[in-house]
Amino acid sequence: MLSLKKLTWEVLVSASINVSAPGKLMLFGEHAVVYGYSCIVTAVDQRVYVKAGFNGKDELVVNAPQLGVSGYRKKVDRLCDQEMPKQVSFIEAVVRRFYQNYGLVRGLEIATRSDFSHSYGFGSSSAITMATATALSKLYLIKLSKKQLFDLCYQAVLDIQGVGSGFDLAAALWGKTLLYKKGARLVKKMILDQLPIVVCYSGVKADTPTLVRQVAEFKRKKPRKVKQIFNKIEQLVLQTEKVIIQKDWQGVGKLMNTNQRLLEDLGVSTLKLEKLNKTALNAGAYGAKLSGAGGGDCMIAVCLQSKRDAVEQALIKAGGEIMPVKLNSKGVTWQKK
Ligand code: MEV
Repeated sequence: MLSLKKLTWEVLVSASINVSAPGKLMLFGEHAVVYGYSCIVTAVDQRVYVKAGFNGKDELVVNAPQLGVSGYRKKVDRLCDQEMPKQVSFIEAVVRRFYQNYGLVRGLEIATRSDFSHSYGFGSSSAITMATATALSKLYLIKLSKKQLFDLCYQAVLDIQGVGSGFDLAAALWGKTLLYKKGARLVKKMILDQLPIVVCYSGVKADTPTLVRQVAEFKRKKPRKVKQIFNKIEQLVLQTEKVIIQKDWQGVGKLMNTNQRLLEDLGVSTLKLEKLNKTALNAGAYGAKLSGAGGGDCMIAVCLQSKRDAVEQALIKAGGEIMPVKLNSKGVTWQKK
C-alpha cells in the first residue's frame, strides 16, 4: 500500500517536470571560500526531488510533507512580500527571481521530498533552490546556461540568507567534486574516483549564516590573524588537489588535521566535533575535520577500508551518527513526466 506521503507526492503534480539535485559535503576550505579563497566540495548521493507543474491558478502552492509543509499557498505576484516559513522561503525566492527576470506570472504547484533530513547540513535548501530553478527553466522552455542558472539561484539564496559562497549550489548544479571559488568564479572538476572517508553527524544542527557572521566579526576585530588563517587554508586546499589525485590518503589526512586546527583558530569548532575527530584518529583514521560551517553538523575522517569499521564503531560509541553517503555524485538531472 502507498503511504500517505508517497501518495501526496504522486498525485499532487501531474504533467510536470521532475528534477533531482544532490546534497553536498564540504571537504576543505570552508569559511575562507566566503572571502574569495578556494574550497573543495563534493556532491553526495543523497538527493532532493522537486516536482513542478502549472496549476492554472494565480498562486504558488507548495507541498513538502517531510518539512511539515502541506498546501502552502501564496499569490504569485506577492512572493516574498512578508514573513515566510523557512522551509518554503528558498522556493519562493527562486520562483520570484525567475519570474522577475523573465516577466512571468503563472500559478505553480511544487512538491519536494528529500533522501536526507535538512538537519545534517548536506545543503538541502540549496539543492531545492537549484532543482526548482531547473524545473522552471524546463517548464517555460527557457534555455539557461549553467552559469545563468547558478547566478539566478545564488541571488535567490542571498535574498534569504544574506551570506554564503554558493559552493553548495555549485555542487547541486555541476555535481562531482569541484575546486570552487565564490560566485562560481572558478568551477574546476577534480578527478576523484574514490576518497575513503567516513561521514559522521555530531547530533547538533548548525546555523550557517550565524557562523559566517561570527567569522566576519572575528575578521573585523583581528583582520591580520584571520587573513593569515585564510592564506594557510588556501595553500592547503591547493595542496589537497594534488594529493587527492595521487590517492595519497595519509597525505589527505594530514591536510585534514591542519584544516581542522585552522578552523579551531577561527573559533567555529565545538568540543563535540573535536571529541569525534579525536575518536576517529584514535581508531586509526589518517585525519579528521569538521565539514561545513562548524558549530555542529558533520565531521569527516579519512581512513583505509581496513580501518573503516573500527572508526565507525568508535564514532557511534562517542555519540556520533554515521552517514552512509557516497561522494562524487552527478549534478542536477530532470525528466518530463
Ligand atoms: C558552510 O557549509 C560553508 C561556509 O563556507 C559557508 C559558505 O561557503 O557559504 C561556512
